[in-house]
Amino acid sequence: MPPRLSPVRIGSAEVPGNLFLAPLAGFTEPAFRRLCVEYGAFLTYTEMLSAEGFIRDNRKTRLLLEREENEVHFGVQIFAGSPFAAASAVRDIEKSRPTLVDLNCGCPVPKVVRTGAGSSLLRNPRLLHDMVKAMRDHTSLPVTVKIRSGWDGGSVNYRETADAAVQAGAAMICLHPRTRSQGYSGSACWEQIRDLKTRISVPVFGSGDLYTPGDAARMLGETGCDGVMFARGALGNPFIFRETREFLTTGACRTPDPEERVAAGLRQLDRAVELKGEDAACREMRKHFVSYVKGIPGSARFRALIVQARTRDEYRRIAGDFLRSLPEGRER
Ligand SMILES: Cc1cc2nc3c(=O)[nH]c(=O)nc-3n(C[C@H](O)[C@H](O)[C@H](O)COP(=O)(O)O)c2cc1C
Repeated sequence: MPPRLSPVRIGSAEVPGNLFLAPLAGFTEPAFRRLCVEYGAFLTYTEMLSAEGFIRDNRKTRLLLEREENEVHFGVQIFAGSPFAAASAVRDIEKSRPTLVDLNCGCPVPKVVRTGAGSSLLRNPRLLHDMVKAMRDHTSLPVTVKIRSGWDGGSVNYRETADAAVQAGAAMICLHPRTRSQGYSGSACWEQIRDLKTRISVPVFGSGDLYTPGDAARMLGETGCDGVMFARGALGNPFIFRETREFLTTGACRTPDPEERVAAGLRQLDRAVELKGEDAACREMRKHFVSYVKGIPGSARFRALIVQARTRDEYRRIAGDFLRSLPEGRER
């Protein structure tokens, strides 16, 4: 099937397009998600939120639930180690009316795995089933699941975990076809996405190694998946949503010039300052900003300066100097 932009029905929710921003712990915060939506993401996710955090009424967990007004289609992802914790969390999350709630079954971080959550669930499809069922029993929102291929190379079981989730009522499966033991290294095995798509009736989304509009088109075309989630490829690069929308529609796309990239980074910073204050925003924006200029000639010096910037004025000054230093006598 030719790759195309299309609406996608996820349980009772209709999302107008199939290019999503994946959950990324430490990165998919409101100011960044807002830009991704401006540039064309059809649905954005929170980073994974601790189900236990809701039970304990943790303030930080609740803040992570906050949503920008342009996030019309919005997913909340949780990680949980027991059906009780998952059910309690969704009851709470439902009050903020997201589009869907997603269960993380892929996080490889030992701190998470030790609690029986994240990729630990890949070793226990029965428990995964019971978690999804408990979530379904406690919310009318669509419940979706994000899995990996399996725990390690010797136990690839995405078919079994996806079946368990669907039998329990999952409305969509996203497969990141790497095993837990691969972490984020090596390449994602897209063939598994194609295989899964032929086996289950709910929408299948693919994640893994999506860095360009061409990658997204290829994943859609080669696997027949219903949609894609950009992850690392969207960092410092919310433009990837505009580019992919254009590419899928016309076969070509505009790429942002250095001015647009820096201006977008500064806009994200402005919004982050509004939301969390100048000090925290400037500290947290450093990791984003270095991605915004990645690949621009001379960006190494810029990176060295920006990782020390402490105020919005410092960011602006460093960014202005950087743009003026670019070749071809750019007038500004
Ligand atoms: C820094 C980082 C944080 C991530 N956090 C989450 C998360 O909170 N929940 C989740 O389901 N996946 C998370 N992922 C996995 C991504 O959503 C995605 O599936 C994975 O990076 C593969 O896509 P990519 O190769 O295009 O980056 C994270 C990945 C990275 C690199």
